[in-house]
Amino acid sequence: MDEKYNFKCEVFDSLSNLPDEIAVLMQAAQSQMDRAYAPYSKFYVGAALLLEDGRTYLGCNQENASFPLCMCAERVALYNAGADNDSFRIKALAITAKNPAKPLKEICMPCGACRQVIREFEERQKAEIPLYLSSDGNHIIKLDGISPLLPHSFSKDFLL
Ligand code: THU
Repeated sequence: MDEKYNFKCEVFDSLSNLPDEIAVLMQAAQSQMDRAYAPYSKFYVGAALLLEDGRTYLGCNQENASFPLCMCAERVALYNAGADNDSFRIKALAITAKNPAKPLKEICMPCGACRQVIREFEERQKAEIPLYLSSDGNHIIKLDGISPLLPHSFSKDFLL
């Protein structure tokens, strides 16, 4: 995999090099990816988030014949946690993706909409959410939070 990133990140070359709870989280994202409903794109994405209290929420992409209604894995997991809890703190978010028709040469990055939603959840908990991204399970990158992927972002500061 090409590992040329113009932002600060930590690179791991195996799940076994991750802290145990993060390796388990990434495995949960991988299993959830296989539950994606993606008959149109045939592109499979899984997300798993770990709360400070140890609970895990999962998501995978959910597509629709009306294409703009498709929902990304990351947002399924985040909104599920948001719907279930008043206050909570996300300790880590693991995201993985695969395209069975084409081995991915690079780690798949969250789309722009999901970056913005991750930003909102960081605002909600007033702390960055460490992100672990992987596409083949052998290469994982860790970012301390979403800001390198979403600089100069829109936020509630413009509204309130
Ligand atoms: N997808 C995600 O689940 N997350 C992303 O960050 C990028 C894209 C999904 C949406 C759609 O079901 C498929 O991947 C192809 O775009």
